[in-house]
Amino acid sequence: MKRDVKELVKQMTLEEKAGMCSGKDFWHLKGVERLGIPEVMVSDGPHGLRKQAAEADHLGLNESIKAVCFPTACATACSFDRELLEKMGETLGDECQAENVSVILGPAVNIKRSPLCGRNFEYFSEDPYLASQMAAAHIRGVQSKHVGTSIKHFAANNQEYRRMSCSSEIDERTFREIYLGAFETAIKESKPDTVMCSYNRINGEFASENHKLLTEILRDEWGYEGYVMSDWGAVNDRVKGLKAGLELEMPGSGGNTDWEIVEAVKNGTLEEQVLDTAVERILNIVFKFTDNRREGRFDKEADHKLAARIAAESMVLLKNDGVLPLKAQGQKIAFIGKFADKPRFQGGGSSHINSFKVTSALDAVKEVTEVAYAQGYDVKEDKIDEELFAEAVKTAKDADAAVIFAGLPDAFESEGYDRSHMRMPDCQNALISEIAKVQKNVVVVLHNGSPVEMPWAEDVKGILEAYLAGQAVGQAEVDLLFGKANPCGKLAETIPYQLEDNPSYLFFPGDGKTVEYREGVFVGYRYYDTKHMAVRYPFGYGLSYTTFAYSDLQLSSDEIKDTDTVTVSLKVKNTGDVAGKEVVQLYVADKTGSVSRPAKELKNFVKVELQPQEEKTVTMQLDKRSFAWYSTQLHDWYAATGMYEIMVGASSRDIRLTKTVKVVSSTELPLHVTMNTTISELLENSRTREVIRDMAESLIEHMGGSQEGEEGNAAAEAITPEMSLKMMENAPLRAMRSFMGMSTEEIETLIERLQEAAENK
Ligand code: BGC
Repeated sequence: MKRDVKELVKQMTLEEKAGMCSGKDFWHLKGVERLGIPEVMVSDGPHGLRKQAAEADHLGLNESIKAVCFPTACATACSFDRELLEKMGETLGDECQAENVSVILGPAVNIKRSPLCGRNFEYFSEDPYLASQMAAAHIRGVQSKHVGTSIKHFAANNQEYRRMSCSSEIDERTFREIYLGAFETAIKESKPDTVMCSYNRINGEFASENHKLLTEILRDEWGYEGYVMSDWGAVNDRVKGLKAGLELEMPGSGGNTDWEIVEAVKNGTLEEQVLDTAVERILNIVFKFTDNRREGRFDKEADHKLAARIAAESMVLLKNDGVLPLKAQGQKIAFIGKFADKPRFQGGGSSHINSFKVTSALDAVKEVTEVAYAQGYDVKEDKIDEELFAEAVKTAKDADAAVIFAGLPDAFESEGYDRSHMRMPDCQNALISEIAKVQKNVVVVLHNGSPVEMPWAEDVKGILEAYLAGQAVGQAEVDLLFGKANPCGKLAETIPYQLEDNPSYLFFPGDGKTVEYREGVFVGYRYYDTKHMAVRYPFGYGLSYTTFAYSDLQLSSDEIKDTDTVTVSLKVKNTGDVAGKEVVQLYVADKTGSVSRPAKELKNFVKVELQPQEEKTVTMQLDKRSFAWYSTQLHDWYAATGMYEIMVGASSRDIRLTKTVKVVSSTELPLHVTMNTTISELLENSRTREVIRDMAESLIEHMGGSQEGEEGNAAAEAITPEMSLKMMENAPLRAMRSFMGMSTEEIETLIERLQEAAENK
């Protein structure tokens, strides 16, 4: 059905149009009955449907309908599996259709700048490429069912502390490469119906009224056509927000801000056309849903099974000294820890799903074998309960192997506040250490939304990182522990040894008014790997019950223009005796020296399934963006001419194959020549190089000569050829006055010639 939305907007009164720009209540948009504009509902997201029935509130105080809690983003990102995320999205889309929900609020792609952010469990990664790829797949899936998504929180909302007022102070290059990077590809490729702007300010300006962000970048540069809604309560100045590109305010303001919009149009401070465009954008999405409604029911049990599969494909095996998989027969196994019985599988706050059922590891293991169980610790208080502790140590000791289900209790991390440290509860750390003294086969299974310090890592034989894996968590854990499924998740973030190692440590979370992103682009592995720092487990790392061999790396060309693409292919072989999946990662290292860059950056990946001894060829593409950095001079992406290393690896620290490619740039960075431009800058620029080359040679002579000094000649020894060369390179043009006897006028004439050359005149 083709609708003429423009025509419809023409028929609306000013008050009706203003009314469309804010919610009716917590979860609904307003309708206009006389014109057939329906009221539609939006609901949280991101990893399940949180549809609140009657009395609504955004932090989940009131009950929502029974639904399915899928693994949270911190887990699913570790799957590195676009198809899996798309499948999860499709299922969420079907659930929304069944429940008449027009937009499901998510995915959330904010970068994990610090392990302390209370909401890291809802976010994908420390890497913008991975976050964006996962989000794009999620959006594709949901929207294939004609249900909208809301990619959030746009942008630079990387902490909970003072999230509604604090200003994220970020330089432009970092903002583009890291924080906007997580949104850009997902928005361009998958076109989410809505974008949710964040609460915080960015360099002083609220996201909700940031014209640069919501219009210049989002619409003018990225071509975005959906609508922008506010995070719940993120509006500061409604009219300013509308002008900046914020179409919908959520939740409703009881009519107050609608009235402000009406007034602004009447008194001429807001052009009515701005309002009309906003309403048009909202209505396009409203009708996109209502015109494609499909009544139906969703099969909770089937979706629960899918949640178990996604969880199993996401969990990361961090350590296995031959203890896993466990044997269902002939081995006495103990399950220790409260989380074996009552697992923590999601985080607190607006994403909290009312799960229709939960499968714990104790439930799931009943289908496999009998295990002994002891609770070991309490989650309400971080205090050793002597009785529980002693019983757990004894149960573990009496078994052939002990699996300890540990992690962070709800109070340790949540939406609304950040963690103050990276430790697990002391009572759990103590229990693990004590059990490791009496039992040599210890496996720890972790339930947490963000990395924890693991002081006992050397004392146990196995570690399985389950993250917050959704309501079927126990099924996935048991399948992996007993080898029914083969671990294939890889870390979507680095696990440092300790909090202090994290690059944002000195600046997080700021003074409450501002938070400075001083580590710049060096976030996560971009920092650890560049500094060659020891980490507990690196980005992209994860073990399997089989092994993989990489060979025969090929590039489609060893020299490309920056407007071309290069295809990378290689062979991957399963060299073990069980089937498994490998995540092959493609990193690029800039060797041109054009700017300070991380040692490597993830630019593509592929997940491949292989039977024992099977070999497959996998291919991945790289384009200009894979090589480029964001130049604040060009206000655009720039890949300098020169060599780039293509690194293929099983983690950021396990690079198996490398090759180099030369990229030839079609752009030259602008050069403004002044008295203080250095000779090296002029030599680096291909256009000014010709003009300055001869003069540079004679400048060397004047600065001490390029000949070897005679032995024993103190004056000559004082100035080596290397030194004269560097002195020449670092000299500004004005130095020609002092060292070459040129006059100011002569240098000015030279500058003119150089500038003309730089501009290619
Ligand atoms: C959260 C959003 C959420 C909204 C609605 C806010 O507090 O930041 O992520 O979608 O509430 O519940």
